[in-house]
Amino acid sequence: MREKLVVGNWKMNGGLATNAELLARLASEWTPGDARKLVVCVPAPYLAQAQAALSASAVMWGVQDVSEHAAGAYTGEIAAGMAVEFGCRYAIVGHSERRRLHGETDGVVGAKALAALGRGLTPIACVGETLDERERGATDAVVTRQLDALIEALGARMRGCVVAYEPVWAIGTGRTASPEQAQAVHAVLRSRLAGAGAGDVGLLYGGSVKGSNAAALFAMSDIDGALVGGASLDADEFLTIARA
Ligand code: 13P
Repeated sequence: MREKLVVGNWKMNGGLATNAELLARLASEWTPGDARKLVVCVPAPYLAQAQAALSASAVMWGVQDVSEHAAGAYTGEIAAGMAVEFGCRYAIVGHSERRRLHGETDGVVGAKALAALGRGLTPIACVGETLDERERGATDAVVTRQLDALIEALGARMRGCVVAYEPVWAIGTGRTASPEQAQAVHAVLRSRLAGAGAGDVGLLYGGSVKGSNAAALFAMSDIDGALVGGASLDADEFLTIARA
């Protein structure tokens, strides 16, 4: 069954006091819908806080990245097993900010997804084209290359993933892909996934999702939810998206 999810990616934002307010509101105001799950991916230092605030609620939490290694001399990295110890269920892998700022290749992203799956975390694997790639007409080729690398690394375990399409030009810019633009790419990804026996993987859209545009995006046949950055830091906005 296609997993319906709204995931907040806090990125490197937050603080103990503001987190406490936001998490308390999500915990008390989110009632599990029939179909949709709510997840927040918080900075690693706040995992214990998220666990304490959300354990008795229907909201789940996760990390924004994991190492491809299980343990060892990898300064600054976080192992999937560590995230599991704090009750995480999800791990974002291959976010465009990590691909761009930390040089993560398709191969590394595949290895991270495998490491997450190995510890029982659901990877939320991100793909997406830059503005330049879109303008050159290379969108389908780019996202297909990124997805194929993942499928090759994961094989049948691809079915245990969630995939997020996040056009880089729509992230943090206020410039959302139109529902039709997003759907067109999601259809390409869906057919590729179906070819790999993973057609029922949840496919999220990310990039300037807000309360005001979520419903139109969710109405598209291949969009199963959203990966939300800025708007996930505001309880009203995030809950509006979750309920759209
Ligand atoms: P914004 O919602 O702030 O555009 O960020 C999207 C994103 O990168 C989520 O992972």
